[in-house]
Amino acid sequence: MYLTRDEEALLNGELGDSYALAMKVLTVVGDALKAERLISVVHAHVSGISYFNIGDAGVEFIESLAAGNAKFQVFTTANPYMVVKGTSYGELPGDLISKQMRVINSLRVMGAATFTCAPYYVRRPSYGEHLAWAESNAVLYANSLVGARSNREGGPLALLEGLVGRTYAAGVHLDEGRRPTCAVSVKVDQGVKLSDLSLLGLRVGELCPDSIPFVEGLEGLTENGAKAFLAAFGSTSNSPMVVFNKLTPGGKELLADSDFKERFSVDANSLKSIYSEIREDASSEGVVYFIGCPHLSLDEVASVINYVRGRGGGRLEGRELWLGVSEELQLDKGLADSLAELGVRLIRGMCPVTTRLDLLGVRYVITDSGKALHYMPKLAGVKVLIKDRPEILKEFLRR
Ligand code: F3S
Repeated sequence: MYLTRDEEALLNGELGDSYALAMKVLTVVGDALKAERLISVVHAHVSGISYFNIGDAGVEFIESLAAGNAKFQVFTTANPYMVVKGTSYGELPGDLISKQMRVINSLRVMGAATFTCAPYYVRRPSYGEHLAWAESNAVLYANSLVGARSNREGGPLALLEGLVGRTYAAGVHLDEGRRPTCAVSVKVDQGVKLSDLSLLGLRVGELCPDSIPFVEGLEGLTENGAKAFLAAFGSTSNSPMVVFNKLTPGGKELLADSDFKERFSVDANSLKSIYSEIREDASSEGVVYFIGCPHLSLDEVASVINYVRGRGGGRLEGRELWLGVSEELQLDKGLADSLAELGVRLIRGMCPVTTRLDLLGVRYVITDSGKALHYMPKLAGVKVLIKDRPEILKEFLRR
């Protein structure tokens, strides 16, 4: 791989061991993928920072980088972490929290700006911009809805890429790596619900587990609808990108000379059997209503809050609605206090999906997220019911 003089200096340890390690890993990965050079990125996003994922070895590795004075060379954000606090369910045992906080503190020392799985709300990428992102929903959002370019990195690799501000020139950073090779025609009703788009995303991901799909039939998709679809798609597919007909910036050029190896059609209504089957498993004890996988935008939070406030609350004792949001989301204090009285908890910078909620006494989670539906039974130890957002809010507020 060709390296510039500056890159050679980093590799040779002239700026310190942490940067040399980062360059070494990056060049090995790049060589394996036949990248001819490195390219600069403007934003790195680190994932996989839950203590349950990385264990003691991961904690010590990240701490050693911070202790070696490594600093992110480009704007860097990181995924939410596994701690859930500020709810009536208590907290995980102290040593789990302290180990997780060691990771968070080390990332902050290195310069991580904030913790969220929706980095596109913190700093919206631009068309054609190169990124080193590791959270699947964010990577899919950037490539498919903005036309920015990021491979779907592993969490540690994105961290190292943030340290040197570079990635390898391969995959979807190159035009040829962005061409769809699988075609899916979908049928949805007008005004399709977010939860149905989530189920559709899971299904399309199952059909195209390793290839970029060209999706026709979702031309009227809203941004929130696309976000729900993509987050779910990324749970069942390894692809970093979806080319939506008429929606993906630069998508038309990517279709030139397209050679689809597979073609599928999916009727969203056929997925409703899954939807109702899951719904029947509802129970009333240890139930948490959860919206915000991926984290919510300020507009989404405002719309949920306005709905709850407009109805004056009225929740049953002990019933809670958790909203997953970025650490930095600003709400005025009066509003935040009134939410607590209504049983609405802002889960800031945290991810309930990668947390052992069963250890806190949660048994069921009712959510509109296909990604949460996919991962929570395995990672959080709870049963998950998927419902549409308005339905969740009505149920939460029912006396
Ligand atoms: Fe975010 Fe956790 Fe869902 S990181 S996308 S809330 S699984």
